[in-house]
Amino acid sequence: MATEKNTVKPWGGRFSEDTDRFVEEFTQSVSFDRRLAPYDIQGSIAHVAMLARVGVLTEDESGQISGGLSAILSEIEAGKFTWRQELEDVHMNIEAALVERVGEVGKKVHTGRSRNDQVATDLRLFLRAEVDNIQSLLLQNMDTLVTLAEQESASLMPGYTHLQAAQPITFGHHILAWYEMLKRDRQRLGDCLERINVLPLGAAALAGTRFPIDRSVSADLLGFSALAGNSIDAVSDRDFIIEFCAAAALIMLHLSRFSEELILWLSPGFGFIDIDDAFCTGSSIMPQKKNPDVAELVRGKTGRVYGDLMTMLTIMKGQPLAYNRDNQEDKESLFDAVDTVKLCLEAYLGLVPSIRVNRKAMLAAAQKGYLTATDLADYLVMKGVPFREAHAVVGNLVQYAIRQGSEMEDLELSELKQFHEGIEADVYDYLTLQGSVSARDHAGGTAPARVREAVAEARRYLATLTADDG
Ligand code: ARG
Repeated sequence: MATEKNTVKPWGGRFSEDTDRFVEEFTQSVSFDRRLAPYDIQGSIAHVAMLARVGVLTEDESGQISGGLSAILSEIEAGKFTWRQELEDVHMNIEAALVERVGEVGKKVHTGRSRNDQVATDLRLFLRAEVDNIQSLLLQNMDTLVTLAEQESASLMPGYTHLQAAQPITFGHHILAWYEMLKRDRQRLGDCLERINVLPLGAAALAGTRFPIDRSVSADLLGFSALAGNSIDAVSDRDFIIEFCAAAALIMLHLSRFSEELILWLSPGFGFIDIDDAFCTGSSIMPQKKNPDVAELVRGKTGRVYGDLMTMLTIMKGQPLAYNRDNQEDKESLFDAVDTVKLCLEAYLGLVPSIRVNRKAMLAAAQKGYLTATDLADYLVMKGVPFREAHAVVGNLVQYAIRQGSEMEDLELSELKQFHEGIEADVYDYLTLQGSVSARDHAGGTAPARVREAVAEARRYLATLTADDG
């Protein structure tokens, strides 16, 4: 069944029949790509300015078109713009509104351009802005982590491998591990930005245009740092989106791991932290419950972003060059990845400062489980025992302590000596948690002094980034 006459469609000239209503709904993207409107208009204004610069349009024509586009943008921002499905996408909606507003001259906006290079430009402008927003959220999160790490630079806790208590560490050191992850995530986005910030305009449909365009003018006006080097590639590849989604997936992976740890630490079995009531939720049936739902939702939302990445990879893989309509499917995944990452980073900005650390519980957990066994082996090595032999001696000793139901530092010197005659009274310095962490006093180590140093280093790094941003 037919609806609107195809004469309303900018491409209607070749068609004698109206579009089937189902096809119109099936092919439309305006319901979601209208989000690109500000970038579409920005791109069009730069395009006509360039056309005027090279003499394809007059300055007056270019001015009338930009004036009309700016007015349309205000209308969109005020929520007064009427989006029409029969006009398919954001580009044709804006072009039609332009012609309605400024008359015949509006019909010149699409000179030497195609929706193919137009949409690629819009997406790159959009993503460039959003990468900037995400980088800034990462920066703020790095800052809250550094604050927590400084506050807990000397707090003792068990460090885990295989989720079994392994060796004593400081909580500040653990939190700085999170910081390192976010630091790399931010750098990764920076790398990706280099390849996002490239101008496709001028590629037109795929083969370029015979108008005497100057692409470097458009690039300068739009702040792109390079021109796409091949018109066919410029309109066809979405690898910059895939790369972003991969970087976004890694951010989510890291946030998900943080969440898993917060959830464990909050559980009564650990009891290492509490989270402010404002950042937890209750149960509708069990009155005693206080649940870490914010952290769980971040962990859960990670799946969406992995899905967005998989969607993008799959959309791209079967496409012959150059542009294919498959690419219209890139938008919802990209938007979802951007929105989800931003939302979760915002959640963490509130979550981390709401953590109350239970130092006593962490210390108590570190005091159980022979966490300084490696230190004792190192002690024997210092006394000249080869490490493998020392490992075996301490293994036997731990087995003995387990049978006795005591910790190593509670054993008498005479008992310890039974396992190796080299053990002397100074061994007790090696058996304490404090001694263990303080001795790990090298770059990247867990000693409180090193944690404070790493905090200072992180603060310097963050200051340079904030200065760059400003
Ligand atoms: N809505 C389209 C997209 O998102 C715009 C480009 C359409 N180009 C075309 N030749 N049909 O990809």
